[in-house]
Amino acid sequence: MSEPILSVRGLVKSFGGLVATDHVDVDVYPGEIHALIGPNGAGKTTLIAQLCGELSHDAGTIALDGKTIDGVSVADRVHLGLARSFQITCLLPTYTVLENVALAVQIRQGHSFRFWKPVRSDTALLARAHAHLARVGLADRADALVANIAHGERKQLELAVALASEPRLLLLDEPMAGLGPVESAEMIEILAGLKSHASMLLVEHDMDAVFALADRISVLVYGRVIASGTPEEIRASEEVKAAYLGEGDELGAEDLVC
Ligand SMILES: Nc1ncnc2c1ncn2[C@@H]1O[C@H](COP(=O)(O)OP(=O)(O)OP(=O)(O)O)[C@@H](O)[C@H]1O
Ligand SMILES: [Mg+2]
Repeated sequence: MSEPILSVRGLVKSFGGLVATDHVDVDVYPGEIHALIGPNGAGKTTLIAQLCGELSHDAGTIALDGKTIDGVSVADRVHLGLARSFQITCLLPTYTVLENVALAVQIRQGHSFRFWKPVRSDTALLARAHAHLARVGLADRADALVANIAHGERKQLELAVALASEPRLLLLDEPMAGLGPVESAEMIEILAGLKSHASMLLVEHDMDAVFALADRISVLVYGRVIASGTPEEIRASEEVKAAYLGEGDELGAEDLVC
C-alpha cells in the first residue's frame, strides 16, 4: 500500500476536564474516502478542527505526506493541500454563487477583501471558479444570489468553496446535513466524482452515504477510535454494534443512524 497522505498518531485534545480527542490514530491514503462516524459529541468536529489547524492539540502528531504539520498555521496547511468544509455553512448571501467561489479562489491566492472589486472582471479567476462549480453540479446556478438558493445547493456551493484551493485532502464535516433523499443521492454522486481529485476524510451521520462512499471507516466514541476498517468489517463489528445499538442487534446501513 502507498504511504498515507494524512497520518494522525496519539492525538489528544481536552477542554477542561473533558477529553474530546483521546489518543486518536487515523490514516487516510491517497485516492481514498475515509469516513469518520460516531454519535453526537463524539469529537468528530473537534478532530477536523485540529487537522486543519484551527485548534491546537495537547499531544500527538499530525503528518501530511509523512511530514509533521504540528504548529503549521491554517493558511500554510491550505497551501500544503488541506481544505475543510464546515458543519454550518459560511457564505456571503448578497453575492452570486460564482462570486462566492471566485472570492474563495482569490483568498486562497493570498489576496484580501480589499481587492474584491476587480474580481468581477477577472475572467481567468471567474473561469476557475466556474470549473469548481461544474465539479459540484452548480454550473447552471452561477448567477443566482446565494440568498435565493436551496439548502442542497448551499451544501454543493460549500463544497465548491472548499475546492477553491485545489486540495489534495478534503476534510468534510457533514456534507449531507439537512439534505432530502434526492439531494443526498446527488451529493453522493458528486463526492464519488471528486474522489479522483482529492482524498477525503468524511464526517457524516448519513449511513447510506457513508456505506456508499467509504473505502475505510473509523468509529469515534467519547473521543476514542473504537474501530477502524472496511465498511464490511465495521458493519460486522460487535463493539460498533454495542456502541450504537443494544448488543446482539443486527446492524444495517439503515440502522446505523447517529
Ligand atoms: N470549544 C469547546 N469548548 C469546550 N467543549 C467543547 C468545545 N468544542 C467541543 N466541545 C465538546 O467536545 C465534545 C466533542 O464535540 P464535537 O463538536 O467535536 O462533537 P461531534 O462528534 O462533532 O458532534 P456532532 O455529531 O453533534 O457534530 C463535546 O462534548 C463538545 O461539547
Ligand atoms: Mg460535529
